[in-house]
Amino acid sequence: MVLPSRSSFNLRISDDSLTDGLKGLVDAVRSANPETKIGIQIMHFLKIARSGWRQKVEDFKPEELPVIVAQHVQAARRAVAAGFDFIEVHMAHAYTLASFISRSNGRTDEYGGKLGNRMRLPAQVFEAVRAEVGDDYPVGIRINGEDFTASGSTLLQSTRVAQRFARLGVDYISVSAGSRFEDAAPPQPNMPPDPMSGYSGHRMSPWWWFPDMTHVHLAQAIREQVRRSGFNVPVVAAGKIRTPHEAEQILAQGKADLIGLCRPLLCDPDWPIKARAEKSREIVHCTSCNWCLEADSRYEKVTCSRWPEGAVVAPDPFAAAIARPSELPADVSL
Ligand SMILES: Cc1cc2nc3c(=O)[nH]c(=O)nc-3n(C[C@H](O)[C@H](O)[C@H](O)COP(=O)(O)O)c2cc1C
Repeated sequence: MVLPSRSSFNLRISDDSLTDGLKGLVDAVRSANPETKIGIQIMHFLKIARSGWRQKVEDFKPEELPVIVAQHVQAARRAVAAGFDFIEVHMAHAYTLASFISRSNGRTDEYGGKLGNRMRLPAQVFEAVRAEVGDDYPVGIRINGEDFTASGSTLLQSTRVAQRFARLGVDYISVSAGSRFEDAAPPQPNMPPDPMSGYSGHRMSPWWWFPDMTHVHLAQAIREQVRRSGFNVPVVAAGKIRTPHEAEQILAQGKADLIGLCRPLLCDPDWPIKARAEKSREIVHCTSCNWCLEADSRYEKVTCSRWPEGAVVAPDPFAAAIARPSELPADVSL
């Protein structure tokens, strides 16, 4: 988070006093595995309240927009100082820059309306971050391939967004989807609105009833358009890619250049090591049950349902039951 917040749930990079702590994190990862590269995703969020109120991009006064740019730049400076290998500017999901890009942006000034205007602030952020860190430091972006809301963006817009940022010199484009507030369910009493609660939210971390590799077509289409406009920017596919076999297939078929994993790594942090050692059968597979995501939405500690209570390492894969559809309770229908 690049902006100050009192919430203890946010990992912040919004003040110089936090740089040493982040450096400690980087150093700890490096000492565990010197081969690993560690980057930080920097993001600006729209405020939400337990009353159900949520901030919208239309609420920002023009003079507040340069502050958002400056907050990203300061965060980028701290990220470099903390020793991160790369920065990812978050332009996906429910956050501020994604909400500027989205078709649901209702601003009437030069930061809203047509797509060129909607990309203005995210482009300013990217260019300012680039100027801060220099051309040799990797800066990627994460965008939505689709918002999956009636009022939101689709591939028609996201391919153009990707082309624009390729031209601006982004080092990679990670393609995600969904997690928009626009179709969120009415929040529970005393809970803030939850972008995960609607269909769009269900798309971000596809549930078990979605097919594997749910969003690969989005990465593929974006990659094709970026290549067609003459850029070789690597494109990351993410979203319910559960097995090394699936990952290899995506790469071999040229649908993406890199594979993004979230829940499979929460489930089994040794996933890539086991894959490389050709021990895929020993991987504890994520079941896409979203136990982790639901805990996150409730502001609780994120754990994996496949780990025994209190465990600090992944369970023995042969002891862990594999939840196949046939093993689901009878009242759950596909
Ligand atoms: C607990 C949790 C937290 C997440 N936080 C972020 C986040 O901060 N930034 C982001 O871009 N995506 C976030 N995501 C989405 C994941 O990065 C990923 O795109 C999504 O879960 C689908 O990929 P997967 O099937 O490999 O988990 C989060 C997902 C989960 C489950």
